[in-house]
Formats: sequence, structure tokens, C-alpha cells
Amino acid sequence: MNKAETSVTTNSSVYDVEKIRSDFPILQTKVHGKPLVYLDNAATSQKPVSVIRKAEEYYSKMNSNIHRGVHALSQVSTEAYEGARIKIKKFINALGKNEIIFTRGTTESINLVAQSYGRANFNEGDEVIISEMEHHSNIVPWQMICEEKGAKLKIIPINDNGEIIFEEYEKLINEKTKFVSIVYASNSLGTVNPVKQIIDLAHQYNIPVLVDAAQAVNHLPIDVQDLHCDFLAFSGHKIYGPTGIGVLYGKVNLLDKMPPYQGGGDMISTVTFEKTTYNELPHKFEAGTPNIGGAIGLGEAIDYVQKIGIENIAAHEKELLDYATEAVTEIPSLKIIGTAKDKVSVLSFVLDDIHPHDIGTMLDFEGVAIRTGHHCTQPVMDRFGIPATSRASFAMYNTKEEIDILIKGLKKIIEVFG
Ligand code: ALA
Repeated sequence: MNKAETSVTTNSSVYDVEKIRSDFPILQTKVHGKPLVYLDNAATSQKPVSVIRKAEEYYSKMNSNIHRGVHALSQVSTEAYEGARIKIKKFINALGKNEIIFTRGTTESINLVAQSYGRANFNEGDEVIISEMEHHSNIVPWQMICEEKGAKLKIIPINDNGEIIFEEYEKLINEKTKFVSIVYASNSLGTVNPVKQIIDLAHQYNIPVLVDAAQAVNHLPIDVQDLHCDFLAFSGHKIYGPTGIGVLYGKVNLLDKMPPYQGGGDMISTVTFEKTTYNELPHKFEAGTPNIGGAIGLGEAIDYVQKIGIENIAAHEKELLDYATEAVTEIPSLKIIGTAKDKVSVLSFVLDDIHPHDIGTMLDFEGVAIRTGHHCTQPVMDRFGIPATSRASFAMYNTKEEIDILIKGLKKIIEVFG
């Protein structure tokens, strides 16, 4: 047995998917009388009982506003909120906890950088580079600020496999480029981008890079110091945490120079009608009462992920993706959209002339939840000349048996449509 086989054996022997499934109460749900097969994890992941209990514990035992009160509850909730920040700092290996800003999610994190960094630094004729596979949340905020400042958005094209054409990126980058914002893993194709190389090239021109890690943070180990990214954004709900909470990581020297994104309580140091001075990082970017329970819940979700081990999750999900990719070859009319060499566990496909909406609706009757549509990546659909795809996306608790149910469901749909 070679070394690779040994390590796979070791991984699967420690990886107890049934035990993991028992931690997720929703997986016991029946849909239309059938056991739920939840394959819409790229849209949002389910929550383990520890995260659900944490929310209950927060609201029944700790609920109080943070950073403001001297009373006991306020101190407990402040400690738990700041404790969650430290967990996230360690999880992505940031240098300091002041580099971790809580936001509502990836979308708000990207808008914060576009509106704060972009407004302060972009000028007429400047250029911002994104790719053709971005989620709308990594397109529209840049379009808005470019329009306001007279800057131009430049797009790295993708090839037929759904991979970035690196040489085209090399051609786009020049002295007019002021920012690069790139997705780590595509939500509609599954492609994992070579973000380290993308960042290295930008840094040769002293250009900062934001990494949209919404679909990566739950699948791959992330080390912001190793990546050298300047900003990184992700959402709590994709990594088994609550909705309405997310993270913006930023290098302290950049965040320090950036103006606040929103004004209000907690982000100030002093306020007079003549002049306001701002709080230190990270509070300068957290105006108003934040999602305290959400942040604490996200900390708990990260504990859970670390207990299972992100490498073990990645190995399990790779097995599922390989199994599903092989299984769909039994269906000749099915075409996978997104065939990059390096992918997270996302399987997007089209099935002859059957509309994805019909596929999604009919699979739902079998208890199978997938997502259909353009997945907030209309330019990707345009690139492939299709209006929509059907997308199955796998998480740490999915099984090969569930993929078998998906395949059986797809075969039934083909029969019905003749
Ligand atoms: N961006 C999420 C998805 O891909 C909602 O489904």
C-alpha cells in the first residue's frame, strides 16, 4: 500500500459520517414524506446542535449589549463576542484580532471595502480587476464605486472548463490597476482559483487583493498570512453558523488608513457637533449594535468544524464529488458545467432541454433539495450560453447513498420527459 492509500484509509476510518449526521437535527426531516436529502449546501449549510444550543444559551442566559455596560451580563456577552473574534482570528491565522471585522456576511464585507477603500483610493481612469466567474456580490459593489469614481472594471475571462485564463490576467494588470477582487471557489462552477498566484502577481505591482472566500472557507484550510491576501470575506451561514453574520479580514495597515464605512454608536471615540474622532480597529468598522448572538454562534460553528477537522471534511467532500461526477456519466444527456481540475464539492449541470426549474421541482418531490437558476452568477451563464443550471452541492454530512437518490431522481425525470 502506498502512502496516499494509507492516508485515505486513515481519513475515512476516523471520519464517522453517521455520527456527524446525528449532530444535525434537520437531517431527520421528511419532505413530501421522503427523508430529506439536502444537497443545497452552497446556498446555505445546516447547523449542528451545538450552534443551535449556543443561540438558545445566548438569548436565555447572556443577552445584553456589548462594550457599553458595566453590569455582569454586558461583561459576559462582551467576552463571548470578543472570544468569537479570537476564534476566527486563529481559524484563518490572522496576525491580530483587530484584523477581524464582523459584518452581515460576504456581501457586506465586499461592499465595505468597495465603499471605504475604493472611495478613498480610486480615481478617474483607474482600473479594478475581477473575473468572469464572480458572484454578483463581487461584481456589483465594484461597478457601483467604479461608476462613481470614473474607474473601469476589467474582467479576467474563463475557459470552457470554467477556469481563469491566467495569461489574460497577466495581460490585464498594469499601472492603472488599483485593486483585484477574486473569488476563491466559484459557487456555480465549483472551480478553485489559484488565488496565491493571483495575489503574488498583483503584489508585484503593489496592488491589494480581496479574496471572496464564501464558498472556500467551509471546504479548504485558509491561512491569510500564507495567502498574503489584503482582504478576505466570508459568511457564517455557509460554514455551519448562523445567518446574518460574516467576517471581513483586512491587513491592519490598510484598515487603519481606511475611512469608516458606516457612522453610529461604538465606531466613535469622541463626538462633538464640530468633530468626531473614530474608535480603534476593529470597532471603527462595527457601527451600531452588532449581531452579537450570531457572532457567538459563528464561533461555536468554527469549534465544530475544527473538531471534525477541515482537512477531513475536504477529503470526505472530494470523495463525494468524485463519486457524483462518475455517477452522472451514466446519464448521457447530462452535461456538467464546471469541469476545472481543482474543484470544491459543487456539481452544476444541464440536462438536455429539461428546464432546471422542472428538475428542482421534481427532485423536491423525492425529498432532494438542490438549487436551480443562475446562482447569482449571470455572467457565468452567459459565458456558457445557458439561462440556468441545476446545482447539487455537498457538505460534511452528505453520503454516497444520498447521491444515489439524486441520480435515481434524475433518471426518473428523464423518463417522465421522455
Ligand atoms: N450565493 C449562494 C448560492 O450560491 C446563495 O446559492
